[in-house]
Amino acid sequence: MLQEDQIHEALRWIERQTHLKTKHARMLSSGDQGRLLQLISLMIQPKYILELGTFTGYSAVCLSRGLQAGGRLDALEINDELEDLILEGFRRAGLREPGEEKARLLIGDACALIPTLGDQTYDLVYIDANKRDYPRYLDLVLPRIRPGGYILADNVLWDGKVLLENPPQDAQTQAILQFNQRVANDPRFESVLLPIRDGLYLIRVKKNIVPL
Ligand SMILES: C[S@@+](CC[C@H](N)C(=O)[O-])C[C@H]1O[C@@H](n2cnc3c(N)ncnc32)[C@H](O)[C@@H]1O
Repeated sequence: MLQEDQIHEALRWIERQTHLKTKHARMLSSGDQGRLLQLISLMIQPKYILELGTFTGYSAVCLSRGLQAGGRLDALEINDELEDLILEGFRRAGLREPGEEKARLLIGDACALIPTLGDQTYDLVYIDANKRDYPRYLDLVLPRIRPGGYILADNVLWDGKVLLENPPQDAQTQAILQFNQRVANDPRFESVLLPIRDGLYLIRVKKNIVPL
C-alpha cells in the first residue's frame, strides 16, 4: 500500500501546480470527487487501472490509492505539454520508484493508444478524456475489462444539458447522451449515476465482453 501522507502531500502539490501552470484548473477533480475516487478504488482494490484523460494527474493519484501490490495504473493523456508535471506528481506520490513503476504515462490520443496496450486487461477504467468520444471509449475498453470489473465515467450530466427536454445538438452533448443511454440499457452492466459535481457514472461489467 502507498503511504497516505505522501499521497496527500503529492495531491496538494499537483493542485497548486495546476493552478500555477495551466489555464484549465477547473478540469481538476479535486476535493470531494478526488476523495470519492480514492474510496471507490480502495473498495475495489484493482490490480490494473486504466485512465483516459489524465490532465495533471490528480485523479490518477487518487485512483492509485487502492492499487494492489504489484499493480499498475496506465494513464493516457493527449497533451504532451503536461508530461513533466504529471510525471513529477507521480514521483512525489511514490508511484515511480526505481525498479517499480506503479503508474505509467502514455502520451497520445486515447483512441489510438488503447489498441496498442497488447492483451492487458483492467479491473477499473476511468473515462475522463474527450467527451465527443465517450461512446467510442466504451467500445474500446469493454473487451479489456475483466468480468466483474468497473468503469467510472465523469461529466455524464454535462452541466445538466443531457437532462433537458430538448438537449443541445452539439457533438459533446449528443455523445454523452448516447453513452448514458447505452449504459442504462445494456443488460451486461449494473450501474448508478452519482450526481456528484458534473455526474459520475459507476458501472459494473457483469461478465466477459466479446469485441463488437
Ligand atoms: C477533464 S480533464 C481530465 C481531468 C483529470 N482526470 C483529473 O481528474 O484531474 C480531460 C483531459 O483529457 C485530455 N484529453 C482530451 N482528449 C483526449 C484524447 N483524445 N486522448 C487522451 N486524452 C485526451 C485533455 O488533454 C485533458 O487533460
